[in-house]
Amino acid sequence: MPEPLLRLDSVSRRFGGLQALDGVSFEVGRGEVLGLIGPNGAGKTTLVNVICGVHRASAGRVLFEGRDITALKPFRTARSGLARTFQIVQPFPELTVTDNVAAAASFSRGLGVREARLAALEQLEFVGLAEHGQRPAATLTLAMRKRLELAKALAMQPRLLFLDEVNAGLNSAEVEQAMALIRRIAGSGVTIVLIEHLMKVVMSVCSRIVVLQQGALIAEGSPAEIVADARVVEAYLGKKYAQAAGSAAS
Ligand SMILES: Nc1ncnc2c1ncn2[C@@H]1O[C@H](COP(=O)(O)OP(=O)(O)O)[C@@H](O)[C@H]1O
Ligand SMILES: [Mg+2]
Repeated sequence: MPEPLLRLDSVSRRFGGLQALDGVSFEVGRGEVLGLIGPNGAGKTTLVNVICGVHRASAGRVLFEGRDITALKPFRTARSGLARTFQIVQPFPELTVTDNVAAAASFSRGLGVREARLAALEQLEFVGLAEHGQRPAATLTLAMRKRLELAKALAMQPRLLFLDEVNAGLNSAEVEQAMALIRRIAGSGVTIVLIEHLMKVVMSVCSRIVVLQQGALIAEGSPAEIVADARVVEAYLGKKYAQAAGSAAS
């Protein structure tokens, strides 16, 4: 067995009396696009925060490329090769689009001003924001801010990228564009963990899916296995979705 890129070993996190993550274990293989799904409040964002070092795990271990990164702070995990987008997009609003991306590159890779700027321009081109580089980030539309988030994460040159609801609030044309970008990123060799509510997106881009409910992992498998899983249907997808998926497949 090749070593997984990421391994979670009984990861737990408490917030006061709330068990936000409860002994979560799974692996992410190199080159995978892994879907991470579950109801609101299931612990998906918290899991990303724990892995990236924003929150500390209350128990358990996180291994990246075989190395224990459980206690590392965000800038250390970023330098180790992890990047993530934020569910709530949070650019520096006064800075230009280019400077926002350059700041991310210099934060994670320790680049000087010139190199960081070049890295930023390259990623803005990739996500289709090249013409908007001089605008203050605050003036972008939501769809553009989501792409800016993506450019910032890519400027960190991650080997593992967490995408936290990058399609939330987008219209269907914008979702199509985002899906094409995600496929291109995956095609370039970056391993992706995709947190996503739109099952259409999950089903079409993910090779495997894990499901969280109330902080616990309740299912893990291929997209076909997950939509047929009685617990997942009960906890998240709902019977209507299962019937629709079943009739679409037959
Ligand atoms: N910083 C925090 N402090 C206290 N509770 C939190 C914090 N972050 C998340 N939670 C709680 O942890 C649970 C999981 O939240 P979250 O990870 O955001 O879920 P998801 O991303 O799956 O919707 C929720 O009940 C949420 O209110
Ligand atoms: Mg979330």
